[in-house]
Amino acid sequence: MLEVKDIVLNRADKNILRIDRFGIKEGERVALIGPNGAGKSTLLKVLALLEKPTAGSIFFRGRRVTGANTLAVRRRMAVVFQEPLLLNTTVYNNVAQGLKFRGLGRADIDRRVNHWLDKLGITSLRHRTPLYLSGGEGQRVNLARSFVLEPEVLFLDEPFSALDFPTRVDLLEQLGELLVNTGTTAVFVTHDFTEIPYLTDHVAVIDGGSVVYEGGIKDILRGGVTVPAVRHLLGPYKKSAWMQDYIK
Ligand SMILES: Nc1ncnc2c1ncn2[C@@H]1O[C@H](COP(=O)(O)OP(=O)(O)OP(=O)(O)O)[C@@H](O)[C@H]1O
Ligand SMILES: [Mg+2]
Repeated sequence: MLEVKDIVLNRADKNILRIDRFGIKEGERVALIGPNGAGKSTLLKVLALLEKPTAGSIFFRGRRVTGANTLAVRRRMAVVFQEPLLLNTTVYNNVAQGLKFRGLGRADIDRRVNHWLDKLGITSLRHRTPLYLSGGEGQRVNLARSFVLEPEVLFLDEPFSALDFPTRVDLLEQLGELLVNTGTTAVFVTHDFTEIPYLTDHVAVIDGGSVVYEGGIKDILRGGVTVPAVRHLLGPYKKSAWMQDYIK
C-alpha cells in the first residue's frame, strides 16, 4: 500500500536516513522502534509525506507520489504526535475541524464527530476547551481528530509516551481495538517494546537511519534477534524482574 525505495535524507550535511526499501501492506500495523536519534520520527514523516527526502521514491497504492499528487495522497493519511497541538476552541470543534476543511456538510460532520467522541469515551468533554484537559483526555481528543478523518493510513509518533502507565495501557488497548475494527493501516513509533504487543506483532527496528531488522515482536522478546540495536534496547527489560520469565 505504501512503499519507499532508495531513500536518502540528508539535513545540514548529515545523513539521517538511508533506506533501500521499506513498505507496509493494506491493513497491516507496523511498529517502528529504535534508539534515540535513530531516525524513527524522520522515517514516519517521510512516509506521511510531511518531509521530503533528498533522494528516492515513495509509492502509494502502486502509484509514485509526485509534487502533483502529494496533497491528494496526504488527505488519505492522518498523523498523531506526542503533543496533541489542540486548538483553543471546544473539543467538538477540534474533532470537527479536519472535516470542515474537507468541505463536509454539517449533518455529516455532526454524525461523524459524535461517533468518534463516543468511541473514545469523551462525549462528556465535548464543550470543554483543551487547555484544562488531562494528558490522557487530550490524547483521546487527538485520536478522535485523526480517526474522524477515516484515514487509509494512520501514523502515530510515540503518542502515549508522556502519559502515566495505567492511562497508557488503557489507551493502547483501545487503540489496538479501534485499528483492528476499522482495518486501518498504521505505523506506530515507540521506544518501548512492551507497547507493541497491544497493537501488532510486526516490528521494524531502525538504527543509524536504516531498517536493521524486520520481524515478529515475540522473536525479539524471546531473545532470538541478535542485531546490536535490539540487544541494546532489550537491556533495561532484562533487568526488570517481571519480564524475567519472558526474556531469555
Ligand atoms: N532538520 C534537521 N537538521 C539536522 N538534523 C536533523 C534534522 N531532523 C532530524 N535531525 C537529526 O536526525 C536524527 C534522527 O532524528 P529523529 O527525530 O528521526 O530520531 P528518532 O529516532 O525519532 O529519535 P527519538 O527517539 O529521540 O525521538 C537525529 O540525530 C536528529 O538530530
Ligand atoms: Mg522521534
